[in-house]
Amino acid sequence: MHILITGGTGFIGTHLARRLAKNPEHSIVLLDNLYRCSEERTGAAESGAEFVRGDIRDLELITELVGKAEVVCHLAAQANVVGAVQDLDYSFSTNVVGTYNVLRAAERSGGKKVIFASSREVYGEKQRFPVSEDAALEPKNAYGVSKMAGEAYCRARTSRGTLSPVRRRSAGGFRLDQYSGGCL
Ligand SMILES: NC(=O)c1ccc[n+]([C@@H]2O[C@H](COP(=O)([O-])OP(=O)(O)OC[C@H]3O[C@@H](n4cnc5c(N)ncnc54)[C@H](O)[C@@H]3O)[C@@H](O)[C@H]2O)c1
Repeated sequence: MHILITGGTGFIGTHLARRLAKNPEHSIVLLDNLYRCSEERTGAAESGAEFVRGDIRDLELITELVGKAEVVCHLAAQANVVGAVQDLDYSFSTNVVGTYNVLRAAERSGGKKVIFASSREVYGEKQRFPVSEDAALEPKNAYGVSKMAGEAYCRARTSRGTLSPVRRRSAGGFRLDQYSGGCL
C-alpha cells in the first residue's frame, strides 16, 4: 500500500513510519517542512521511507503527493499549544488551511482514506474524568480551535460521500525529547 504521512518527521510520524515499514508491501512517503525537526534526524533512512521536504500549505505539492497515495496519515501541524497561541497565523494556515488542502486533494483524486490527528484539546478543560468521546467540544485555545476546525472539515467532506476520514483525538503522549527541545 502507498502511504503518505504528512508531518512524517515529527514524533508520531517517525514512529508510525518505522512501524509501517515493517510490512514490505508498504511504500511510504514522509512529507515535512522541518518546522520542528532537522532532516538528519528524520528517521526516513531507517524506515526506508522517501522523504519530501515540503509544506502542506503548498496546494500543488500536496495535490501531487496525495494523488499518488492510497492512504494519507495527516499529522502535520503546529502541534504545540503554546506555539499555536503565539503564532496564530502559522497555526491557522497549517492546522486549518493545510488540513483543508489535504482533504481537498484527497477528494479530487477520487477519494482516499485520510486519518486525521486531532487532539483532546478540542474538549477544553473538563471538570469530570474520564471525558466521554461525545462530550461537548469547548476548546480553550487556538490549538484546540484549529483541531476542531480540522475535524469539522473532515465531517463536511465526508458528508459529500467521496472521502473516508478517520479522526483520532489523542491525549498528550510522553516524549523522550520533551526536555531537550529537539526531536527523536
Ligand atoms: N504527541 C501527542 O501527544 C499528540 C497529542 C494530540 C494530538 N497530536 C497531533 O498529532 C500530530 C503529530 O504530533 P507530534 O507529536 O508528532 O508533533 P510534531 O511537532 O513532532 O510533528 C508534527 C510535524 O509536522 C511538521 N509540520 C509543521 N508544519 C508543517 C507544514 N506547514 N507543512 C508540513 N509539515 C509541517 C513539523 O515539522 C513536525 O515534524 C499533530 O497533528 C498533533 O497535533 C499529538
